[in-house]
Amino acid sequence: MTRFTTRRSSYLTWAAACAAFTIAAGACELRPAPGFARGEMIFDTCSPCHGKDGAGDESLGAPAIAGAAESYLTAQLERFQVGVRGYHYQDAEGLRMRPMSRALIPAEGDNESIVEFLMSLPIVDPPATLEGGDVEVGEADYTLLCSNCHGIDGRGLDAVPDAPTLLHLNDWYIASSLRKYRDGVRGAAPGDASGATMRAPVTGWTDERINDVTAYIMTMQRLPRRIPGPPPEPLPPVDVDPSILPEGVTVAMVQEGQDLFHGAGICVSCHLREGAGGALAPDLTDDVWLHIDGEYEQIVELIIDGVDTPIEAPGPMLPRAGTDITDEQVRAVAAYVYTLSR
Ligand code: HEC
Ligand code: HEC
Ligand code: HEC
Repeated sequence: MTRFTTRRSSYLTWAAACAAFTIAAGACELRPAPGFARGEMIFDTCSPCHGKDGAGDESLGAPAIAGAAESYLTAQLERFQVGVRGYHYQDAEGLRMRPMSRALIPAEGDNESIVEFLMSLPIVDPPATLEGGDVEVGEADYTLLCSNCHGIDGRGLDAVPDAPTLLHLNDWYIASSLRKYRDGVRGAAPGDASGATMRAPVTGWTDERINDVTAYIMTMQRLPRRIPGPPPEPLPPVDVDPSILPEGVTVAMVQEGQDLFHGAGICVSCHLREGAGGALAPDLTDDVWLHIDGEYEQIVELIIDGVDTPIEAPGPMLPRAGTDITDEQVRAVAAYVYTLSR
């Protein structure tokens, strides 16, 4: 641990001094304006763990950060800062990273600065270190359960902007992250919709299966970063005849439900846009129902309970999809689902 103590503590002292004297900002004049140069300076506090080239350090559990997308880096730094990530007592590595994130002062442009600098580093491709994973088994799982969100080439998809590229990470970190999602050590904080999305696909997996999919990811072609396309078309406003709605359900609820379905409720990540269905979850727009007969109260109950044992899909649906949407929000999203097939 000693090898990063000195620099980290000097940055922390300096950052604390800046935070305390924002008005008489004498202590802060030394640092460059927000942007690349400040990011480069901040990186001195990151490289003792993440490496000079950002390629990661297994002995500290610090992953490669030089191949990640800008939006993902920004989002994860914020997640550490607000405590949605790196909070669990069993998350030794996350707990190591969290104080580092808090030495950054977002209001002063530190986050943008360090991300700008990280994006300038050449992309790294850490070599495979794990042995014995069955690549064929991993490929089958990946195609069925992961490609939906991370893309068949592992570079992510516009349709699921939160899901990062998996191509430039260390295999030991991929495997440990998957174990953490499975065990609720990462991705299970209240309000962490994006983490919840990632927990469902690995629910109940063995360590062996995790190693298999990790081995497969390490065989994927090391492509450059994907350039995200334009944002998707906005959803059409709901157009529903109030007379078909069950008692107590209003058009306003359906509209709210549409937002939840494609937002905080994360239904879209498995049932896809407007409930069209995909490899992970059924079509909600047809009149075929697998678990219920499609009545409103049954939809409400199904969302609250989830689907522990799916009939066709390869993995479960967690209660409330693993999110913390309220009972009222469940009723709204159920109202939207109710209209999809009618
Ligand atoms: C004391 C060691 C240490 C220092 C210093 C450190 N980190 Fe980390 N960082 C970690 C560890 C360990 C993890 C892995 C957490 C996990 O396993 O979930 C991590 C994870 C991350 C992640 C998430 C990567 C991903 O793929 O999700 C980002 C981004 C990150 N660090 C950025 C930074 C930045 C920027 C700095 C400098 C301001 C920094 N770290 C300083 C140890 C450190
Ligand atoms: C429904 C969408 C979805 C599916 C399916 C999915 N993921 Fe993810 N994945 C995400 C999201 C969103 C995140 C970011 C979560 C967070 O912020 O912690 C993520 C994060 C990850 C990470 C962490 C990356 C990092 O840098 O820390 C790994 C590894 C990963 N996924 C692997 C997989 C594998 C392997 C599968 C298949 C078994 C899979 N994912 C299936 C959405 C998905
Ligand atoms: C992790 C993927 C996933 C997410 C996220 C998810 N579901 Fe599901 N959903 C499933 C699976 C799997 C089933 C059961 C499919 C089967 O049995 O084969 C299912 C079934 C359903 C059904 C019953 C369909 C039927 O034919 O009986 C409804 C209704 C439903 N989901 C609504 C939702 C809503 C609303 C949300 C968001 C709050 C949501 N789901 C989020 C995976 C998901």
